[in-house]
Amino acid sequence: MLNWDEFHEDDTAVAEQPAAAQPAPAPAPEPAPAAVAESAGSYRAADEDRVARAKRSLEELDVAAGLEELEMGAARIEVDDKQMINARADLNQLVPFKYEWAWQKYLDGSANHWMPQEVNMNADIALWKSAEGLTADERRIVERSLGYFSTADSLVANNLVLALYRLITNPECRQYLLRQAFEEAIHTHAYQYCVESLGMDEGEVFNMYREVPSVAAKSAWSLKHTQSLARPDFQTGTTETDQELLRNLIAFYCVTEGIFFYCGFSQILSMGRRNKMTGVAEQFQYILRDESMHLNFGVDMINQIKIENPQLWTAEFQDEVTQMILEGTELEIAYARDTMPRGVLGMNAAIMEEYLHFICNRRLAQIGLKEQFPGAKNPFPWMSEIIDLRKEKNFFETRVTEYQVGGALSWD
Ligand SMILES: [Fe+2]
Ligand SMILES: [Fe+2]
Repeated sequence: MLNWDEFHEDDTAVAEQPAAAQPAPAPAPEPAPAAVAESAGSYRAADEDRVARAKRSLEELDVAAGLEELEMGAARIEVDDKQMINARADLNQLVPFKYEWAWQKYLDGSANHWMPQEVNMNADIALWKSAEGLTADERRIVERSLGYFSTADSLVANNLVLALYRLITNPECRQYLLRQAFEEAIHTHAYQYCVESLGMDEGEVFNMYREVPSVAAKSAWSLKHTQSLARPDFQTGTTETDQELLRNLIAFYCVTEGIFFYCGFSQILSMGRRNKMTGVAEQFQYILRDESMHLNFGVDMINQIKIENPQLWTAEFQDEVTQMILEGTELEIAYARDTMPRGVLGMNAAIMEEYLHFICNRRLAQIGLKEQFPGAKNPFPWMSEIIDLRKEKNFFETRVTEYQVGGALSWD
């Protein structure tokens, strides 16, 4: 393990070494300048041949090509040069900002930083290990949730890093994507931490995404929408490929993060409200807070791309992505039925179905599409208080401060 003291001691040792090696000071004639240079250094010069080779290599550097890449001498970046996709402006320059909302979300996300080990898991461990702690139906919910989420967040992170990042041509959005990618790593860590703390069968949990049909179907649906963008030769720039990018954004932000997380989140949060598995529930509540921000960021990106590229948003394309969101809703309803064969925790599959119809309407409306379940109500108003679907901003404004002073999340 790294230790600051070790570094400090080593530093001291290195600093003291020459002094210890030096003979006692004695009056001596002023040395010639060359001799001073030789004795003042406490290290030997590098091999002359290596230095010469390094200098030769630099002389051969193709400066012209480098300058072209950096557009040396080109006009300074103006806000209007920036675009969400297919921008030709230099992507190494963060400012001037064009999308203040993206930078603000990066700041808000950073202010919400948390780590899984900060959550006390003792009560959960005792409850999980006690024979009469949870019913079989409650245990199934904990297992399925950790099974789905432990790999789902990796799918999201891989999509961000391996498929999406290079295609979003705006530095402030990329800054947020980097923050989001780290948050996804923290989420995967949180699920692993829960699995390890509870002493669950890791092989069973981490393989659920390909062994349990209702979990596998959701993962396969998400993966299908990564594939074309992750091809190394994929480029945006045509109507067809720009629409492919939009499909990916809708599949990941609106469906994977915006629908697939909601049955599991509401089940685990309902458990926490009943004072069961409160550590796992607290982890999920922090994650849900991050996810709510990811979703909002994704919606803003999708809507901005629509504004800048109205030719992509054809009636046919709108119809197609509406179908995608309906497919996602159906998969989540199937997951609800699988995880709740009977009523449990004050909810059941039929109530969850209405909740998911309500969520589906919300996702469609957020990107300007027609609601498909008019009149669907939210049967879990307490979920709204946690994520507040209409006042996400207020949610963050109040919770951010609490977290920063170390306050625990409450279940009221
Ligand atoms: Fe996540
Ligand atoms: Fe996320």
